Amino acid sequence: MPIARFFRRKSLDQLVGETVVPQHQLKRVLGPIQLTAMGVGAAVGAGIFSSIGTAVAGGAEHVGAGPAIVVSFLLVAAACALAGFCYAEFAAMVPTSGSAYTYAYATLGELVAWVIGWDLILEYAVGNVAVAISWSGYFQQLLRGLNLDWPGWLGVDYRTALQAARQAAELSAAQADLSALAPDVQFAAAAWAAAPQVAGLHLVFNLPAFLIVMLLTAILVLGIRESAWFNAVMVAVKLLIIFFFLLVGAFYVQPANWTPFAPHGFRGISMGAAIIFFAYIGFDAVSTVAEETRQPQRNMPIGILASLVVCTVLYIAVAGVLTGMAPAAQLGTAEPLATAFAARGIHWAAGIVALGAVVATTSVLFVFQLGQPRILFSMARDRLLPDWAARVHPRFRTPHITTILTGVLVAGFAGVSNINEVVELCNIGTLFAFVLVAAGILILRRAEPNRPRPFRTPWVPWVPLGAIATCAWLMRELPEKTWKRFLYWLVAGLVIYFFYSFRRSRLHNSPHRNPAGRSP
Ligand code: ALA
Repeated sequence: MPIARFFRRKSLDQLVGETVVPQHQLKRVLGPIQLTAMGVGAAVGAGIFSSIGTAVAGGAEHVGAGPAIVVSFLLVAAACALAGFCYAEFAAMVPTSGSAYTYAYATLGELVAWVIGWDLILEYAVGNVAVAISWSGYFQQLLRGLNLDWPGWLGVDYRTALQAARQAAELSAAQADLSALAPDVQFAAAAWAAAPQVAGLHLVFNLPAFLIVMLLTAILVLGIRESAWFNAVMVAVKLLIIFFFLLVGAFYVQPANWTPFAPHGFRGISMGAAIIFFAYIGFDAVSTVAEETRQPQRNMPIGILASLVVCTVLYIAVAGVLTGMAPAAQLGTAEPLATAFAARGIHWAAGIVALGAVVATTSVLFVFQLGQPRILFSMARDRLLPDWAARVHPRFRTPHITTILTGVLVAGFAGVSNINEVVELCNIGTLFAFVLVAAGILILRRAEPNRPRPFRTPWVPWVPLGAIATCAWLMRELPEKTWKRFLYWLVAGLVIYFFYSFRRSRLHNSPHRNPAGRSP
């Protein structure tokens, strides 16, 4: 089988041609401000409201950054900016709705496109499992603030509860004080103890995380698409709550909490960076609306980079105030911003922050739950996935099958997963997609120097090389367990491609194949 077949490409002219057919043409209405709002809307969520706690305090498999988490945020912003330039070059060159999957199909060939599409499941679907768990944590916090009781065993996953119960049992056996456990662990241990049992199996399930995903799935199947207006309201609420946190929190900062600044030195800073990378994921979603953007060659890079700047400034400010409000060790909860207020006895403010986090994470869930089915849909339309996945609902005109499939899987896993593990898996997958996109820029500059590029990544090869190096550095900081899961995932994807997708592919069966090396 000639190797070149794995690199067959979709014709760029055909792709761009599809977008100029009047009945398929999207309106070019988005300018730099809307694009920036979109990037901020997709990014600000579980990362800054939840994962920051583990990144600051450390966890089972890594040490925490402490107050030096602000340095981690800066370093990750630099890595994202380097990758962002590469995304912008691709998005402007292949300005179609889609994602890195479509860019790769038109430029690097089918095999790389498949790997990116498969890998993006880790970014979108697995990422949303984490966001749903964070949503549930803050939702329960909100209910507690309103003095409404939600059974603990229906608010946590099985393994987290089991581990907490074991920790509590060890302390009891040593006749130690259970209050030494973090509040989240105490909560999960109590949930385990209170859970009903069937045949010795504790019935523990994160029901709110499951239900929110199913609810959004139903909305998405009915075709209520996220409008620019809806997004703008969500972004405004998120920003208001973050400003609220900063303003009120600033009064409770005790500078003594900022020392030691970096309790575990650069090791803690870089491990923290690998976790809070999650907070930036989403800025790349700006590239998916290139086809609806005015002057994409100018506005795409502005939208991508401006969202990064806004997120970086907000995140550094939040990190500074948060780590000033309480000692780092106390912040290792799933709701650290609320925990910080609660630790200072300001429960009303904790409630407001919980409300903001619920809104923020809902909007992230929405964007990603909308994006994932469309990537699967494109892959099925290219016949890399089964035909049923490319069906459109006759009445609602939505890709209902992939929407429901994504919804059921994300909801199910959100009910039973531990947030930290899912965040790490999402991060490694997304970082790998960034590496491939940056490598793609380098390859194409050599292979097709004359292809029209409305936006050119500056200082090639240094910017793409910098993106590859920084993303690889962040990947290296993730635990071995995460690496193994990631590699199994990639191998599973390659097996499916070689035994199924390769032969079914629309390009494979097209009389006008477009082998590698020949400009389409
Ligand atoms: N950046 C997104 C969040 O933090 C995924 O929720």
